[in-house]
Order: sequence, then structure tokens, then C-alpha cells
Amino acid sequence: MATQGTSRRELLASSAALAAAAWLVPSARALAWQDEKKPVPGERRKFGKTDMQVGVLGFGGAEIGYEPAEQATVDRLLNGALDAGLNVVDTAECYRESEVLIGNAIAARRKEFYLFTKCGHTSEPPKDGPDWSKEGVLQSIERSLKRLKTDVIDLVQLHSCSLEELKNGGCIEGLEQAKKQGKTRYIGYSGDSTTAKWAIESGRFDTLQTSINICDQECLELTLPLAAARQMGVIAKRPIANAVWRYDAKPDNSYHVEYWRRLQELKYEFAVGDKRNDAGPDGAAGVAMRFTAMQPGVHVLIVGTTKPTRWAQNAELLRAGPLAKELVDSIRARWKSASKPDWTGQT
Ligand SMILES: NC(=O)c1ccc[n+]([C@@H]2O[C@H](COP(=O)([O-])OP(=O)(O)OC[C@H]3O[C@@H](n4cnc5c(N)ncnc54)[C@H](OP(=O)(O)O)[C@@H]3O)[C@@H](O)[C@H]2O)c1
Repeated sequence: MATQGTSRRELLASSAALAAAAWLVPSARALAWQDEKKPVPGERRKFGKTDMQVGVLGFGGAEIGYEPAEQATVDRLLNGALDAGLNVVDTAECYRESEVLIGNAIAARRKEFYLFTKCGHTSEPPKDGPDWSKEGVLQSIERSLKRLKTDVIDLVQLHSCSLEELKNGGCIEGLEQAKKQGKTRYIGYSGDSTTAKWAIESGRFDTLQTSINICDQECLELTLPLAAARQMGVIAKRPIANAVWRYDAKPDNSYHVEYWRRLQELKYEFAVGDKRNDAGPDGAAGVAMRFTAMQPGVHVLIVGTTKPTRWAQNAELLRAGPLAKELVDSIRARWKSASKPDWTGQT
């Protein structure tokens, strides 16, 4: 796990620019969720100005690739979740076998879900690593189409390339060409902090995928209001903060270390002691997920898991609805008082 976490982090950090408004009006659907006390797992939100109606709880495909999960497990996990209301599956070319596992498990049910992937990093030799050229991006998308066993992807996102690569422009041109060719219906940027801000302001992306959670709140003021103003679809990645309250000591998995460190300083009451193991909506996982889900402008949370029963459990937690205002205010206040200038959005 430590090695896998390290390689993922290194891979992304190599190309990501990590650096640091008031609330704008949230999307109508997000507001509605805040008003509805008991949303059903199948609840849909209009995904920005796209034609998609996304379920609040999606599926993040990194864990099944990095852990890794067996095909039979992924078959059970994804088919069970689709039966229970899942309609967003997110993955990336570089999540090892994730795309292949997903393609094998649910390509036959393609009409039942929106399929999101990310391009620019490859795990296929001879080019094992990032390629942000126009050609590189187009080739990455071709490989994803084959691995996912589909003719068209709903959303292809640039996988956390740096500001410099965004400004070079080749990667964006590649995405735009793939959209014109009908290989992807929409295009997005997946990344954080000031690089994500640039991506939003460029006006060239339909969607933003960014880290949003109790340990990663920079985006709440830096980027989410801008994305909402442009009616972009917003995907919350790492939405449950990698459940870092699970660790009694510094995790071996380097990908989890930064959030774990932050949590030691944030000292949220709901993420210490017995609350860490409380599997109900007011325990650590429930509060973390409900906090992310109720942020204005957020449409879908792509929680990662390798456990076949997890999606239904998490959907049940979300049924508890938005957190009490006092609790949200205290989470925000704690963040504002504890956060350091380098607590920027984590890829
Ligand atoms: N740069 C990028 O574009 C980028 C970077 C990071 C992530 N992502 C995307 O975001 C997705 C989600 O990120 P992530 O998987 O890193 O973070 P995450 O969803 O915040 O955390 C996943 C972890 O939380 C655990 N978990 C889930 N539900 C739980 C619950 N109710 N109680 C306790 N633990 C629970 C899972 O363990 P179990 O296996 O035990 O359920 C898993 O280890 C990824 O799969 C990927 O699609 C994109």
C-alpha cells in the first residue's frame, strides 16, 4: 500500500502545480438537496450546463486499480451499485487496470451510467508517464475507449497537468478535438488550487473535478464559486478525505499523510475517539461525506472503495441529508483558524 500510494502521488505531483469570494448562488439542485431532509440515493442533480443528471454519490475508480481489486469483486461492486442507483463512474487511464475492470464489469450496461475518465497519464509502455501533447492526449483517449469497451465517453478530463502545460495548450486542443470527433461528449479539468482556477477562467472546460473535503477546503472560496458562476459541472474528488481518521499513527501510504497531518491539527470532535468507528450518519464518515455533499456548487462525490457493500452503505449515510448549520459553521471555523498557507488543494 505504501509503494502504491507513493507512486500515485509521485505520478500526479510530477505534473501538478500545487499552490493556495464569497459564496455565489449554488446550483438549484444543490439548494434543493439542502432543503430536502431525506434525499434518496437515486437523487439526481443537474450537472452544470451539461445534459447530465448525476446522482450525488458516484464511484471513484482509483482504489480498485491501486489496491488492486479482483474482477469478480468489481463485478459485484459495480453491478450492485448500479442496481441501487449509481449513475456516475469515474476512472483514469493511469489507474492501473481500473478502466479494464470497469469495462469488463459494466460495459454491457453502458446506457445506465455516465462514464468519466481522465487522460494524459498512461500506464502503457513504451510511454509510461505523462504526455500532455495534443497527440498524446488523443492517443490516451483512444486507449481508454478500448479499455472501457465503449464508443463514446461522457466526460474526459485532463488528469492534473500543470499550469505550464495548460498554458502550452496542446493538451486542451487534444481534448477539444476529441469532443469534435464525438469520442467524448464533454471535457473537463481535474486538479486543484490556482491551476484549477486558471482552468475555470480559461472558459474551455465543461467541468471541474477537485478535492473537496473536511481536510481540504481551499476550493470552497478559491474555485467553487467561480465554477458555479460559469455553470460548470463539479465533481468532488477525495470527498471523504481518504478516511484518514482510521489511522492511529502516521499512515504508511504517503498519499494519505497530508490529510492525516491536517486532521491532527483540526481535531474535529466527530473524527476522534469512538466517533471514528461510528458507522452512522453522525460518525466520522457520515459527517465528512455530508459536509462535502452540501457544499454549494458540488454535484457528485466520487468516493473510492474496493468493497462491494460500501456504495450502498454510503448512500444510506447520505440519506441523513445536510448537516446542521452549527456543525458546518464549526467545521469551517476550525479550518479557518487551523489552516496554514501551504494547506492548498491536494491532487
Ligand atoms: N488528480 C485526480 O484527478 C484525482 C486524485 C485523487 C482522486 N481522484 C478521484 O477521486 C476518487 C476518490 O478519491 P480517493 O479514493 O482517493 O479518496 P476518498 O474517496 O476520499 O477515500 C477513499 C477511501 O475511503 C474509504 N471509505 C469509503 N467509504 C468509507 C466509509 N463509509 N467509512 C470508512 N472508510 C470509507 C475507502 O475504503 P474502503 O475500501 O474500505 O471502502 C477508501 O480507502 C478516486 O477514486 C479518483 O476517481 C482523482
